[in-house]
Amino acid sequence: MNAYRNGGFEIMSNAKPRILIVDDQEFNRIVLHDIMITLSYQPFVAKNGREALDCLIDIKPDVMILDVMMPVMNGFDVLSHLRKDPSIEYVPVIIVSALDDVESISKGILLGAEDFLTKPFNQTILKTRIESCLFKKKMHDMELNRRYELERELSEAKSQLMHSDRLASMGQVAASVAHDVNNKIAAIINRVALIARMNAVVDQKIHINLQKIDSICRGSSGLLRHLLDFSRGEQVEMRELDIHGPIENALSLVEHKISTKGIGIKFNRWESPLKMTGNSDQLEQVFMNLFINAGDAMENGGSLSISLSVVPDNSHMPFIKIECADTGTGIRAEILDKIFLPFFTTKPKGKGTGLGMYIIKQIVDAHTGKIHVTSIPDKGTTFTLLFPSLSIPSSDNYDPK
Ligand SMILES: Nc1ncnc2c1ncn2[C@@H]1O[C@H](COP(=O)(O)OP(=O)(O)OP(=O)(O)O)[C@@H](O)[C@H]1O
Ligand SMILES: [Mg+2]
Repeated sequence: MNAYRNGGFEIMSNAKPRILIVDDQEFNRIVLHDIMITLSYQPFVAKNGREALDCLIDIKPDVMILDVMMPVMNGFDVLSHLRKDPSIEYVPVIIVSALDDVESISKGILLGAEDFLTKPFNQTILKTRIESCLFKKKMHDMELNRRYELERELSEAKSQLMHSDRLASMGQVAASVAHDVNNKIAAIINRVALIARMNAVVDQKIHINLQKIDSICRGSSGLLRHLLDFSRGEQVEMRELDIHGPIENALSLVEHKISTKGIGIKFNRWESPLKMTGNSDQLEQVFMNLFINAGDAMENGGSLSISLSVVPDNSHMPFIKIECADTGTGIRAEILDKIFLPFFTTKPKGKGTGLGMYIIKQIVDAHTGKIHVTSIPDKGTTFTLLFPSLSIPSSDNYDPK
């Protein structure tokens, strides 16, 4: 009984099929163990059902030869466990019973046993049944491997799809950010040019412009921070703000460039703060893009007027309304609905990327706002923006009726 250990198990060789013998009778264990050695299988033994279940994970048997009547846990209970617990790997079971115990055999088969054996053991029958069980196990394992492989391929494809989706959105956001950083850098260049042209002894003016350069640089780094936040999957920070702030900031950045074209700027402020929830860096981007576009449409001068008002809403808080009207070239009716598409531009190559209005729309949507455009060719264009207000503003002009 070379490899037999009473009540334990021993690994003989990795290549041979692994057979777990479960029997409370030592004599039966010894006989079956020796037959397994003769048939070139690798035998393991357990004294009862409990012991068999406990060693399943370690042994990973290819076939189990299971006695029915045993103390601690009988063969039927082992079968119930095997078939009910999905964490237990599939193992074909051959139940062992007395020749005349047909009832036990049929109950075992109903509980999921693959085959049965009767005592005393016949080596040829035993070999045939084990071989048939080994074939089933092999088929089952192949099917399982194929399913694992398919699942792995599917999850790989899914994560690739998510990755390319993220890359595509990243590309769009990166392009938007690059576009607006570009605008801000252009404003820095303008300011620097202004300082250069100024009489250097006017210290106060130099000081004010340097402060503006500082604030532009801070805005630029804020934009880049949005890009990084997005790549980390974080939301843009929204706070309570007064809409006058972003409009005034944007005006101060572009007014020099615009006024050199002979464009008059008129800003009709509201007499009290107009509070809303938003991101001031992003709102500043919106107004900067609107003002730059207006400036581009009035190369030979004109006027840009920005008006604030409040629109009542019966069911909700009122809306803040911002109208930005220019007396420029206007937009032809047939392209009016295209201006919000990414990369749509009527400007020559190297002058426009066609991202400004697209960015405006994205930001307005993110603020649950609305944007609307009306335009008459050769007369001018008016953009109207609406944002949900945080409070009912106090003004004589506000009439909720
Ligand atoms: N105020 C305006 N007056 C006339 N046309 C305008 C005005 N605003 C936008 N447009 C039209 O909408 C198009 C798209 O504007 P958008 O800001 O998206 O891109 P762009 O100004 O061409 O390029 P950039 O990416 O540099 O902003 C412009 O090319 C222009 O034809
Ligand atoms: Mg533009």
